[in-house]
Amino acid sequence: MTDSNTTSEKPWGGRFSEPTDAFVERFTASVGFDQRLYHHDITGSIAHATMLAEVGVLTAEEKTQIIEGLEAVKADIEAGEFQWSVSLEDVHMNVEARLTDRIGVTGKKLHTGRSRNDQVATDIRLYLRDEIDVIAEELQRLRAGLLDLAEREADTIMPGFTHLQTAQPVTFGHHLLAWYEMLVRDAERLLDCRKRVNVMPLGAAALAGTTYPIDRSITARLLGFDRPTENSLDSVSDRDFAIEFCSFAALLMTHLSRFSEELVLWTSAQFDFIDLPDRFCTGSSIMPQKKNPDVPELVRGKTGRVNGHLISLLTLMKGQPLAYNKDNQEDKEPLFDTVDTVKGCLKAYADMVPAIVAKADNMREAARKGFSTATDLADYLVKKGVPFRDAHEIVGKAVAFGVAESRDLSEMTLAELQKFSDIIAEDVFEVLTLEGSVQARDHLGGTAPDQVRAAVARARQQLG
Ligand code: ARG
Repeated sequence: MTDSNTTSEKPWGGRFSEPTDAFVERFTASVGFDQRLYHHDITGSIAHATMLAEVGVLTAEEKTQIIEGLEAVKADIEAGEFQWSVSLEDVHMNVEARLTDRIGVTGKKLHTGRSRNDQVATDIRLYLRDEIDVIAEELQRLRAGLLDLAEREADTIMPGFTHLQTAQPVTFGHHLLAWYEMLVRDAERLLDCRKRVNVMPLGAAALAGTTYPIDRSITARLLGFDRPTENSLDSVSDRDFAIEFCSFAALLMTHLSRFSEELVLWTSAQFDFIDLPDRFCTGSSIMPQKKNPDVPELVRGKTGRVNGHLISLLTLMKGQPLAYNKDNQEDKEPLFDTVDTVKGCLKAYADMVPAIVAKADNMREAARKGFSTATDLADYLVKKGVPFRDAHEIVGKAVAFGVAESRDLSEMTLAELQKFSDIIAEDVFEVLTLEGSVQARDHLGGTAPDQVRAAVARARQQLG
């Protein structure tokens, strides 16, 4: 990055009588981070020049010169042969200055009928649209992996929890499908957000539009936008599409953080429900026995910065008067970091989830220990005519006896159970088993293994 300091080099230097203060120049520059938009900036400029030629503002020859020049600038950047200059402030002025260096005075015509205000708003939308498509694919890959694992574990029994206390037995496949459902909603939110990202601000110019006979439908079509925006002031000022994306990201990360928390708990010696392959874990430099679930821990931790970026952008936008304000330059770093973080977390999860190994015996043992079929016993009594509240009381007493004796309900004799209610008969043991308990919840959305398999089949069809 170079750091020169003259008024003459600035595209806006005409009305200034002294050079920018050296610190202010660095302080106001965005090129250090917005250079990542170069590709989309050049794509937008090519479309703009093409449109200008079609409406007769540029000659065909000027257009060709500009497009070839821009392609050459792109090649320079990609070859690492581009000197970014802080005194040229941002990616837009850096690219334009280099274009003019290469092709001469025609380069200065590119900026006809536009402003950096509509240019940057267009660049971010083009960038975000591409990233949304990458993220949507990663999310799809994670969902597919989750469905495979759920199908594999459709019959595996584990304790289901409320208050992190053993509640009722569920199948591991069913538990995994709960995560799947959250991701379905996240994917829907992402695609919905894309609709509002894919609208073109170019042509709004600085804020009021332009006096040139531009045709915004041409640029919109060339850039793959659904349509041009309706209002020039709104076009250059609002970043709600980026906020929406960050809101999608915050919810996705919040979901992944919950998933992560469970993976961390389940890999602990105290739960010991699953194993994560070594390649997703790291060790301790001091405790030789340690194998730490770093990937889920980090994903859980990274949720903080993504949620923070959402608040940053909301606060950035709050109270801004129309139209463009320099404040909006601050939209980029939170947005870029959100994109990078979400892509990294999704990649790690999409790679890791199919490799989760369930320790079915340990899960089953935990479900067996926690009186998880107590509700089944109450339902059994209700079906034989006992009012639910009385049944609850009866089973509560049986559980207290089990706690004192360190025995599960299914490990009591018929005679012992009958001490709590003489309605109880031999068939009670069918409902006290874990398999009986999960199989009995055999309806749409229930935990029965057949329901899990049916849900996986439906989800696969939806996923395509
Ligand atoms: N670097 C600026 C940004 O990111 C580009 C637009 C600047 N416009 C201006 N009038 N200073 O927002």
